[in-house]
Amino acid sequence: MTDRVILATRNAHKVDEVRRILAAHRLDVEIVPLPDDAPDVPETESTFAGNALLKARAIAEITGMPAIADDSGLCVDALNGMPGVLSARWAGGHGDDAANLELVLGQMADVPDGRRGAQFVCAAAWVVPGEREQFVEGVLEGTLARAPRGTNGFGYDPIFVPGGYALTTAELRPEEKDAISHRGQAFRALAQVMASR
Ligand code: IMP
Repeated sequence: MTDRVILATRNAHKVDEVRRILAAHRLDVEIVPLPDDAPDVPETESTFAGNALLKARAIAEITGMPAIADDSGLCVDALNGMPGVLSARWAGGHGDDAANLELVLGQMADVPDGRRGAQFVCAAAWVVPGEREQFVEGVLEGTLARAPRGTNGFGYDPIFVPGGYALTTAELRPEEKDAISHRGQAFRALAQVMASR
């Protein structure tokens, strides 16, 4: 029987990515989008794992259904790991991708090529109400470009060049990004945990 799991996000890009990743893993789960009337769960923790668990727990409790949630972001070496858990609201307004990207580019303007290292990090949590909680993490190492390139993906993709690649993650095809991405790694690990339930 197909399990139904709520994905605790309003980001349609993330829903697509997670569906694609779990389907590629042949996991028999139906990903149910967050109901419109579900409250927003503020990300108040200081770690990606803490926020992913916070969101999955809250949505599992409200709906009574198994829930998965992720928290992800960009950690820039030259910015001491920032924007980190503040990635979605780095420029102030939540989810203003263009403003966030421009702000990071400006902050990195004088940083030389050898010190432009960064990581995409994703924590994914799975909560089955009254039964179990689990979280996993994925990390994609890379460097930051000096100008945006590419139109795929979202957020900081146009300036993130994965290690060993010449293209940004916004220039990779979606399946190519999934194969190496922080979210791909985290959700493939989560799929294994869910499959062994
Ligand atoms: P979240 O929805 O709280 O996990 O916020 C994630 C934020 O981190 C997004 O709004 C993006 O700014 C950034 N981010 C996370 N994953 C990615 C990615 O795969 N590509 C580009 N930006 C990402």
